[in-house]
Amino acid sequence: MEDKKKVIFSGIQPSGNLTIGNYYGAIKNWVKLQDEYDCFYCVVDMHAITVRQEPKDLRRRTLEVLSLYVAAGVDPDKNTLFIQSHVPAHAEIAWLLNCYTYIGELSRMTQFKDKSARYGDASVSAGLFDYPALMAGDILLYNTDLVPVGIDQKQHIELTRDLAERFNNIYSPTLTIPEIYLGETGAKVMDLQEPTKKMSKSSDNPNSYILMMDPAEVIRKKISRSVTDSIGVVKYSDEQPGIKNLMTLLNCATGMSFEAMEKKYEGQGYAQFKIDVAEALIADLEPIQKRARELVEDKEQLEAIYRKGADKASAVANKTVRKMMKKIGFIPR
Ligand code: AMP
Ligand code: TRP
Repeated sequence: MEDKKKVIFSGIQPSGNLTIGNYYGAIKNWVKLQDEYDCFYCVVDMHAITVRQEPKDLRRRTLEVLSLYVAAGVDPDKNTLFIQSHVPAHAEIAWLLNCYTYIGELSRMTQFKDKSARYGDASVSAGLFDYPALMAGDILLYNTDLVPVGIDQKQHIELTRDLAERFNNIYSPTLTIPEIYLGETGAKVMDLQEPTKKMSKSSDNPNSYILMMDPAEVIRKKISRSVTDSIGVVKYSDEQPGIKNLMTLLNCATGMSFEAMEKKYEGQGYAQFKIDVAEALIADLEPIQKRARELVEDKEQLEAIYRKGADKASAVANKTVRKMMKKIGFIPR
């Protein structure tokens, strides 16, 4: 008898251009997992509208994110790739879970605290506050075992587990309790200008991040300007957050170990090291950029991918919603 594969779910918001943080923290791990697991990878457009989006940008970015998934090696034949709003069960489960989520829990979410501080109370939507219930729904719909994300999402995954356990305790075992999956390195790629902060696509300073689609010369410039320190030794240490981050990037791009780097650059300062980091990133990203540029123009192929994905996803998701509704006490349709 064939063993049932474990299920993976993850998603990225089409709310900006993807950075190498998204790539090394999330997508690159997905590629490694696709043979071993039954994977659902989603472009979470419903999450993106928790803050205001320009309609034409949202449309373009949604297709760009999907193209980047595929271009980075996430195979649409092996995985279920889809767009969140195409599977209405996401909205349905979010409402259900809403009614089992406490305001106190949502108020403790650091992502909410950060974002609401940035936008100011008057423009913080109920959706932004409630975002973790939708995210929990995304994950729970597919009986997900593992969620590969960057470490910043840990709190949301813990809430997802709490909600699933709460539902199961109130009724009877219904929802699978998921676990976070963190890559070995790259779980937190740092800001190039302030290396104690997470690299983010929403930063105001473009020199603080590298986009997956940044051209080679831009990558070279951003790495050469990245903030380091005056110690002058390539060493993986918390006292040198800038260098530690560049070492992480070199490791993500080439697999080279930190030990090997420390040896290779001994007594050399940072100049050659920075050049090598930039060239490694370029070599890793260029083939992806080329495929993504081709694919994003091929609307027919993209449509075939997301339609097939939504059909497969809906079949699983609808079952979960029906099961939950029945236990809650709704009359079956
Ligand atoms: P977001 O861009 O917030 O939609 O994040 C999408 C995915 O990329 C999530 O799994 C994040 O944890 C991951 N991610 C985003 N930024 C970083 C970063 N700087 N380092 C590592 N992972 C990240
Ligand atoms: N909240 C995630 C982020 O900002 C994106 C996301 C939404 C997600 N739903 C998800 C990630 C489900 C994993 C699983 O990065």
